[in-house]
Amino acid sequence: MTNKLNPRQQAAVEYLGGPLLVLAGAGSGKTRVITHKIAWLIKQCDISARHITAVTFTNKAAREMKSRVGELLGGSEGSGLTVSTFHNLGLNILRREHKHLGYKAGFSIFDQQDSESLLKELLRKDNVDDELLKQAQWAISDWKNNLITPEQASSRAKDALELANAMRYSAYQRNLKAYNAVDSMDLIVEL
Ligand SMILES: Nc1ncnc2c1ncn2[C@@H]1O[C@H](COP(=O)(O)OP(=O)(O)O)[C@@H](O)[C@H]1O
Ligand SMILES: [Mg+2]
Repeated sequence: MTNKLNPRQQAAVEYLGGPLLVLAGAGSGKTRVITHKIAWLIKQCDISARHITAVTFTNKAAREMKSRVGELLGGSEGSGLTVSTFHNLGLNILRREHKHLGYKAGFSIFDQQDSESLLKELLRKDNVDDELLKQAQWAISDWKNNLITPEQASSRAKDALELANAMRYSAYQRNLKAYNAVDSMDLIVEL
């Protein structure tokens, strides 16, 4: 395997001044920049692998990156390196830090279906139909993606429906905690 980088890739690998955005087309060598940067940090900058984290969107990309970094590093140089998806990173941090977030050890992760069942259960007393269930799901996921807590959601509600959904969001989070569970969005949000 050749270790060559073009001048722009080389500059990106060696830049240490702060955040760096690499914007380039598919197959143009972005992953190569990241893998070489990891190797550069370890070999040239004496940064230990366990202080480096690489995140990807998919498990497939994480596997590819891990194996490509592995080819650049010798022996135990890469031991302790984290290469994972955002969700897995969140999960691992939550596993380690669960106490600080009010979860007990061995918490469970609700998948899409578990979340929906819980929400349905909470909505049953309101006689909510599928349309309103979908709306509540959307509202909750939108709030979570924007890191808005149930309290903030209720205080900002602009109409009765939004307020109702904020109350559902609050009940939903309370129930998750009671089950000692997180949903897939919490893996990101709770950080
Ligand atoms: N400077 C380079 N010289 C030779 N091959 C390269 C160079 N940069 C990238 N490649 C190769 O091109 C292919 C695509 O690179 P990759 O880093 O996976 O691109 P991206 O992540 O942008 O899709 C890979 O096989 C990689 O090894
Ligand atoms: Mg890539």
